Amino acid sequence: MSLITLLGLIDPHVHLRDPRQTHKEDFYTGTCAALAGGFTTILDMPNNKTPITTFRVLNEKIKIAKEKIVCDVGFYFGSLGDNLDEFEKVKNKVLGLKLYLNETTGNLLIDKMELEKIFLAWSQSMSLHSNILSTKPILIHAEEKMLNVVIDLVKKLGNKIHVCHISTVSDLTQIIKAKEEGLPITCGVTPHHLFLTENDVKTLGPFGKMKPGLKSKKDQDFLWKNLKYIDVIESDHAPHTVNEKRGEGTTYGVPGLETTLPLLLTAVSEKRIEIDDIMRLCHKNTAKIFGIKSDPQTKIEINLHTSYFILHTSLFTKCGWSPFEGWKVKGKIERVFIRGEKVFEDGKVLVKPGFGKILI
Ligand code: DOR
Ligand code: ZN
Repeated sequence: MSLITLLGLIDPHVHLRDPRQTHKEDFYTGTCAALAGGFTTILDMPNNKTPITTFRVLNEKIKIAKEKIVCDVGFYFGSLGDNLDEFEKVKNKVLGLKLYLNETTGNLLIDKMELEKIFLAWSQSMSLHSNILSTKPILIHAEEKMLNVVIDLVKKLGNKIHVCHISTVSDLTQIIKAKEEGLPITCGVTPHHLFLTENDVKTLGPFGKMKPGLKSKKDQDFLWKNLKYIDVIESDHAPHTVNEKRGEGTTYGVPGLETTLPLLLTAVSEKRIEIDDIMRLCHKNTAKIFGIKSDPQTKIEINLHTSYFILHTSLFTKCGWSPFEGWKVKGKIERVFIRGEKVFEDGKVLVKPGFGKILI
């Protein structure tokens, strides 16, 4: 039997750029890309052109999203340490707080000296929640030394932390150690760190530039070998236009919503992983960590035997390119249903903008 049905996947890490950078992506094109890639729920990062660090800008973003989305979307809040009094106001509207401790796209890089007060304020705003499992996580972009700083603080304060896009032997080793010590830490990896290495930068040029950057084959092998310690796969869908990628400046990031599942299904066909691994990494753990309810009528149908080439001309993402251009993949998303309604079939989105729900 080549046709299988799975629960709709959840991507906890996307950058849809709406509002203010809708030339790169918007809530409609980004959520169409999600459906085409088998994701029925996605969680949007706060490093917009106007960072999502106040109740007011968060509400504006949600209002715009409501009109445009075709899959379910949840949001994160951002902080530079100067908006702690907003936490209480937004805590029921977001699924977590995102903090950036290393340089990347946007203006949300924080000083590590700010961390402790942010951790304390976030847990204080969560204090109505009865236990650590129901607490909304702090998501962290922290590499190398910065990851050390974060883990030390978790030891001291006990915050629930999700470390995004782990890419190296040393960072994953630190995470494994922290998990073995019982710290409330989860982590994610991206498909680009699983399927590309620094060698690919030679051919991809600026289209292989993202944060964290691509790493060695040794690092990549370590991620695959230790997949059991990885909690989620997150696409880090970060669209920039072709011209922006070719130009000067800090346009870190690659699109990923439409290629993540086909790449993983290809790995299944090569017996590197099993469908159960995909469900653990792209649904079960993601739902648990971010507190998302699964709906049995929200599902995807996949033909495991269909092979095709990834081509930018077939993508919904507005940026119109992929670092996996020309790759042959095996496993095609045929149909997608949300709450029982068919939303995607034969490469077409079947519902109107506004069909998707905002998660709280
Ligand atoms: O490559 C990246 N792009 N890494 C990030 O952390 C941010 C993202 C973006 O927003 O473009
Ligand atoms: Zn990101």
